[in-house]
Amino acid sequence: MTVRWNFPTRVLFGEGTLADIAPEAKRLEATRALIVTDPGVVAAGIARKVQAALAEGGVATEVFESIASNPSDQHALAASEAYVEYGGNIVIGVGGGSALDVAKIVRLCATHPAPLAQYDDAKGGSALITQPLAPMIAVPTTAGTGSEVGRSAVVTMTETNKKTVFFAPNLIPDVAILDPALTTSMPPKVTACTGFDALTHCVEALCTKMDHPMCDAIAMEGIRLVHENLERAVEDGSDLSARGAMLKASMMGAVAFQKGLGACHSLAHPLSARADLHHGLANALCLPAVVNFNRSAAQAKLATIGGLLGMRQQDEETMAFECSGAISSLRQAIGLPEGLGQAGIQEDTLETLADLAFEDVCHTENPRPCTRDDLLSLYKASF
Ligand SMILES: NC(=O)c1ccc[n+]([C@@H]2O[C@H](COP(=O)([O-])OP(=O)(O)OC[C@H]3O[C@@H](n4cnc5c(N)ncnc54)[C@H](O)[C@@H]3O)[C@@H](O)[C@H]2O)c1
Ligand SMILES: [Fe+2]
Repeated sequence: MTVRWNFPTRVLFGEGTLADIAPEAKRLEATRALIVTDPGVVAAGIARKVQAALAEGGVATEVFESIASNPSDQHALAASEAYVEYGGNIVIGVGGGSALDVAKIVRLCATHPAPLAQYDDAKGGSALITQPLAPMIAVPTTAGTGSEVGRSAVVTMTETNKKTVFFAPNLIPDVAILDPALTTSMPPKVTACTGFDALTHCVEALCTKMDHPMCDAIAMEGIRLVHENLERAVEDGSDLSARGAMLKASMMGAVAFQKGLGACHSLAHPLSARADLHHGLANALCLPAVVNFNRSAAQAKLATIGGLLGMRQQDEETMAFECSGAISSLRQAIGLPEGLGQAGIQEDTLETLADLAFEDVCHTENPRPCTRDDLLSLYKASF
């Protein structure tokens, strides 16, 4: 069997790197940029800074900010209309995964015939994403999804009310600008939730079975960075060193999960689509139970993860056994709720959520196969 290994994104990292955005846009021959962002990022003053940096280099801009956290196809379609109306020749995504994913889909909608639903990866739609896309620069303002280097974009389709993944190599932004100073305004709760998404990407990518030694190494370093920096970033949002390390961990999680994800993401997707739970929080609530469930299939890797999370060295079985507790302790240390019930999920919805989680493809990459009832048990164990 042939496997494919790619690390294609151009990444600019460092405090003040936003100043490079105009030369990067020019290198991509862009003159008119649609900035796709959301109201929280605008309120934090970040969209204005991006506009100013582009204006300084002679790139005209317009801002589209009408998107929500857990965005839908309607947000993406409206942003795409704005892009076409403006006559843009580059899309700049500025924000967390929500804004970056909508920005990616703008390029898809602007160049490929409707309906968007036909490009759903779960239905083989990736093969239809064939046209060249407009250039894109991604400027993450959270540190969790790593969408700036990923080839997927996730929105909730209004018709099905399901988180739907669009996946294609050309969805990857041309440039990612990782400027830690743009993440300091993230409130502690958003820092904690998004940071746990980065951790979950690294943990699930490492544990999934596909052979990808480069992704494994990247995932391990990502876990170490989360262990050393997430609590610091939550406690002191202005700590640029911790913020920068979390941006690195987030990017590395997304590079690593080109290898695959696992059951935790299948459990998380319906929690966001149906109950509007933040994606990273949904992962944080389910990850300990999933890690525990995976012990029989991924003992050595879970022992490694335990070590990277600061557990003292013991025999492999004990470390794998205690890994789930190490993850719960980190979750508690950064002030996140300790169960789905505490996060406002109604117990009588778990059956429906389990049906939806089973329909989600991520669990097919889990190291231990999952039935629908396993997923229900995992929800119950996470309650
Ligand atoms: N493409 C992928 O591979 C991928 C991977 C994981 C998750 N996702 C998707 O990404 C979305 C979640 O993204 P997210 O976790 O980054 O959260 P988000 O983009 O929804 O942002 C969360 C909140 O934080 C605010 N915010 C963002 N940056 C800020 C800053 N610097 N200062 C102040 N406020 C700020 C936003 O306005 C928003 O209200 C979900 O839709 C999820 O499904 C995509
Ligand atoms: Fe995720």
